[in-house]
Amino acid sequence: MTHAPRSPDQAQRRVLLGISGGIAAYKACELARLLVKAGHQVQVAMSEAATRFVGPITLQALSGREVALDSWHPLRASGMDHIDLVREADALVIAPASADLIARAAAGMADDLLATLLLARDAVPTLLAPAMNRAMWAHPAVQRNAEQLRRDGLRLAGPGSGAQACGEVGDGRMLEPEQLMWEIEALWQPRLLHGRRVLLTAGPTFEPWDEVRGLTNRSSGKMGWALARAAWEAGAEVVLVAGPTALAPPHGVRTVAVETALQMREAVQAELAGATFDVFIAAAAVADWRPEPQPGKIKKQPDGVAAPPTLLLNPDILAEVAARADAPFCVGFAAEAEQLVAHAQAKRERKGVPLLVGNLGPQTFGREHSSCVLVDAQGVRELPRMDKLDLARRLCAEIASRLPARA
Ligand code: C5P
Repeated sequence: MTHAPRSPDQAQRRVLLGISGGIAAYKACELARLLVKAGHQVQVAMSEAATRFVGPITLQALSGREVALDSWHPLRASGMDHIDLVREADALVIAPASADLIARAAAGMADDLLATLLLARDAVPTLLAPAMNRAMWAHPAVQRNAEQLRRDGLRLAGPGSGAQACGEVGDGRMLEPEQLMWEIEALWQPRLLHGRRVLLTAGPTFEPWDEVRGLTNRSSGKMGWALARAAWEAGAEVVLVAGPTALAPPHGVRTVAVETALQMREAVQAELAGATFDVFIAAAAVADWRPEPQPGKIKKQPDGVAAPPTLLLNPDILAEVAARADAPFCVGFAAEAEQLVAHAQAKRERKGVPLLVGNLGPQTFGREHSSCVLVDAQGVRELPRMDKLDLARRLCAEIASRLPARA
């Protein structure tokens, strides 16, 4: 999972990064670095216990700012760090959040700077990244406290599962810094798809010709990945059916890996049979044809001329979904080489989808930026060239505004 550089229209935000005492504090150094690299201003505050795990000077160097350590030695002339630091922030992030801090926050205590910041935060969006031993995380007291914080309007990110510093394996690992970056950026996105379920296809398909060769295309999956992230940020539960790409599965999204168009169709239909979706976005560049697969490896012929494969037409996954009686709101993509609007309009009609997003293939495949036209029953609208994540967020807003109100 990579974090793309920010585009000019993405605002620089001020992040107050609180670090409590736990071995995962070392990962907070990387988080501070990623936040700065992404263009944000970072003010670090550390609990006394956190300074036993990493030195404040490390965080000072990474953030370029003196670290707030306790209320008796305030950074601000007002002497009111616990109010001033949090009120000037666009987000308060506590990573790691120890069992002790979670308990004190749930009880509304103000016995150190971090706990006091959590009390004084007012409406500042707040994220906690719990990190502790798996038995501690599973303890009913910790679960009770975590639930209380959620009910109080805090966002809890993770914990993740896996090997722990103590040698045990289970739930309790702090999310990785890259995953926390996604969680933090999600704090600033409107929850336009909250409570909605979104199914997506993305990436290319690979159609085997023999056991080593096949037919595929240049889709990188980036636009589909950006859409999955944007829909997740907007609060949706997202399932991504993904063809083969070089991208890691996106955080927060359930990814189903497939290779061929037939597998993609089967996976989509299985998802639709298992649950009701509000939206289906077909961002995959599905191969139009598949070779009739040959066993083994086709040998070179002595005359140097290869017999062409017999090509079979693949099913149109999007058109099939759009034709269902219980079809979700369907969004198609059209990568064209020319006459974008005319082709996109024709494709929208042919596939029977309410919204079709058209772009010029050579200008979008593999790139970080893209532009597009939106074609619906009302007509055509252009979205200018921008970072694919920004574009995906705009598209999610367009989709959200077209969804029927829920019963
Ligand atoms: O390839 P084509 O231009 O027809 O793709 C238009 C839209 O239809 C895209 O959204 C694509 O994901 C979808 N599609 C599909 N199944 C296919 C071909 C295309 O779902 N076999």
